[in-house]
Amino acid sequence: MTDSSRVWLITGCSSGLGARLAHRVLARGDRVIATARRVETLAELEQAGAAVLSLDVTADQQAVRQTVDAAIQIYGRVDVLVNNAAYLAIGTWEDLEIEDFSAQFETNVFGTIKVTRAMLPHLRARRDGTLVFIGSRSGWIGDAGVGAYAGSKFALEGLVEALKGEVEPLGIKTLLIEPGRFRTKLLTLGNMKAADAASDDYAPIAMALMAHLAAEDQQQHGDPDKLVDLMIDLVRHEGVAAGREVPFRFPVGTDVHADVKAKCRQTLELLDDWEAVLTSTDFGA
Ligand SMILES: NC(=O)c1ccc[n+]([C@@H]2O[C@H](COP(=O)([O-])OP(=O)(O)OC[C@H]3O[C@@H](n4cnc5c(N)ncnc54)[C@H](OP(=O)(O)O)[C@@H]3O)[C@@H](O)[C@H]2O)c1
Repeated sequence: MTDSSRVWLITGCSSGLGARLAHRVLARGDRVIATARRVETLAELEQAGAAVLSLDVTADQQAVRQTVDAAIQIYGRVDVLVNNAAYLAIGTWEDLEIEDFSAQFETNVFGTIKVTRAMLPHLRARRDGTLVFIGSRSGWIGDAGVGAYAGSKFALEGLVEALKGEVEPLGIKTLLIEPGRFRTKLLTLGNMKAADAASDDYAPIAMALMAHLAAEDQQQHGDPDKLVDLMIDLVRHEGVAAGREVPFRFPVGTDVHADVKAKCRQTLELLDDWEAVLTSTDFGA
């Protein structure tokens, strides 16, 4: 480990992308502060050399600030924050309770805001650092029955795009990774929170979606190890990112690549086909 090695703080390291990322960051010579709600889930990472802290991103801002401050103390700085913690709520607008929507946003959106706000003064003071956010294909596409999760990931798109404009002039980089489907525990019951269909009207959507997700769990085409190595390349400007400007949005995975392209095409068609009408609303037009 050299002085030029970076220090990464990663949320949601008990499983999936967070755990894989933390292991790969260590293997590539950087330092890691791995966090999770239950610190005992981080034993393997601790053995591999990570510092570990307990962090539930839904804690109040003051508590999150204390944990982030404690993280900064460990190595005297943090260079890269990865906002990874999230879960997937499944259910139609009517089948989810309002509390389910709130809980989804508390973790995926407000948790991300709290952790990032706690880190910003440190990075601003140093005029350096990288903020990584894990968005999703669901930040581009709102599938039926996935509205709460898609809403939370669409929210990140706007929030983080605005943040980029605020902090880039201060020397802080932002990176919004938008993965397609990768083989983690995201779709595993228990991690994923699914509401039952209360009305027969939504039963076909709910049943088809649940069957689809059950069939897809642990069969996803995306390899998390390839994804996290790519993320490290993007942050460290190595491998495929060596000598290249790293894009702010990074829709990664065969599915997300095709779906985002299709959505962009449809949007361009709409703007062209309806141009005269869409631009007819100015005073005096
Ligand atoms: N896998 C995919 O296909 C995919 C696609 C697009 C985006 N993503 C995004 O990738 C990120 C990681 O998900 P994953 O696929 O690795 O799924 P995962 O294996 O279910 O991991 C999610 C992690 O988030 C943690 N978490 C949940 N609520 C938390 C909270 N309140 N405070 C702190 N940690 C919390 C979980 O910890 P606990 O063990 O404590 O629950 C777990 O460590 C998420 O942002 C997800 O939306 C994944």
